[in-house]
Amino acid sequence: MNFLLETLQMLVLSIYYNLEVFVRLFIPARKKSVSGEVVLITGAGSGIGRLMALEFASLGASLVLWDIGVEGNAETARLATEKGATTVHTYLCDCSNKADVYRVADQVKREVGDVSILINNAGIVTGKKFIEAPDSLIEKTMEVNTMAHFWTYKAFLPAMMANNHGHLVSIASSAGMIGVNGLADYCASKFAAIGFAESVALEMLSLGKDGIKTTIVCPFFINTGMFEGCGSKWPRLIPTLEPVYVAKKIINAIRTDQVYLILPRSLYVVLGLKNLLPVKLAVLLGVYLGAFNFMDAFKGRVKKTQ
Ligand SMILES: NC(=O)c1ccc[n+]([C@@H]2O[C@H](COP(=O)([O-])OP(=O)(O)OC[C@H]3O[C@@H](n4cnc5c(N)ncnc54)[C@H](O)[C@@H]3O)[C@@H](O)[C@H]2O)c1
Repeated sequence: MNFLLETLQMLVLSIYYNLEVFVRLFIPARKKSVSGEVVLITGAGSGIGRLMALEFASLGASLVLWDIGVEGNAETARLATEKGATTVHTYLCDCSNKADVYRVADQVKREVGDVSILINNAGIVTGKKFIEAPDSLIEKTMEVNTMAHFWTYKAFLPAMMANNHGHLVSIASSAGMIGVNGLADYCASKFAAIGFAESVALEMLSLGKDGIKTTIVCPFFINTGMFEGCGSKWPRLIPTLEPVYVAKKIINAIRTDQVYLILPRSLYVVLGLKNLLPVKLAVLLGVYLGAFNFMDAFKGRVKKTQ
């Protein structure tokens, strides 16, 4: 195709896609059924992982729950069964360990079958200034928050590709789109997780695997206990999120094949400004919004929220 034709095609399609987005404001996308899908959730033993499991349970999906904590995972399974889940499999898996991920993935394939919705949710936070954080904790953060995504994709993506059917979900963070003082290793791990998920999504598109969808979730602080002590400076502008609300929004995003989910909505403006404003102005905005002090009162998870 020549330059003129390609440019014209690009312009016509951009108008069409913009109109599509406009229409979607009034007519929401149809939600796909997840009944019968095999949903694997890492870090299912508490917080958002557990709540997503409960949502999927009531929608008729088969659940595969991974966690490093046996008790929390068993409790999620119990609650999911109460919610109507017919098939729930729990596995002890340390997602920071590649060999463990591959071993448990093989076990899942033998015992349950192909995973069709993969949710990389397990996450940890060091909560220390970079300069004070022990190397071991920095490495662990990268292993759980990023590298585990590589290994789970390696394990479960081939079957999705063979069937041209599946959904890859990355529970990242708004800290994966904007740097935060006191969260260097966590931000790095989440930036990487987003870059990884985005790139594999493009790889699937380029291979014609349009039946494999991707959802990348970037929430602000959620009241799960993971970031205990931290909060918003201006809660009316950027509220701390309630876990049940976040879980429901994620399930909705998966069911409507939404690629990016950023919560709360006001963050779309903040992220847009970050990319548009001169650096000094962006820093000023960061100071105003409290981004320099988010981590000052960090306590983190003292005891798991059940
Ligand atoms: N809580 C927040 O404010 C917040 C904000 C943005 C993004 N997130 C992200 O959302 C996800 C869920 O967070 P949450 O608040 O529900 O946290 P959470 O601490 O309640 O749950 C995390 C789960 O991951 C499990 N886990 C930790 N290390 C593991 C490992 N090596 N292998 C297997 N499982 C492991 C834990 O046992 C726990 O059950 C995380 O990826 C987190 O980074 C959280």
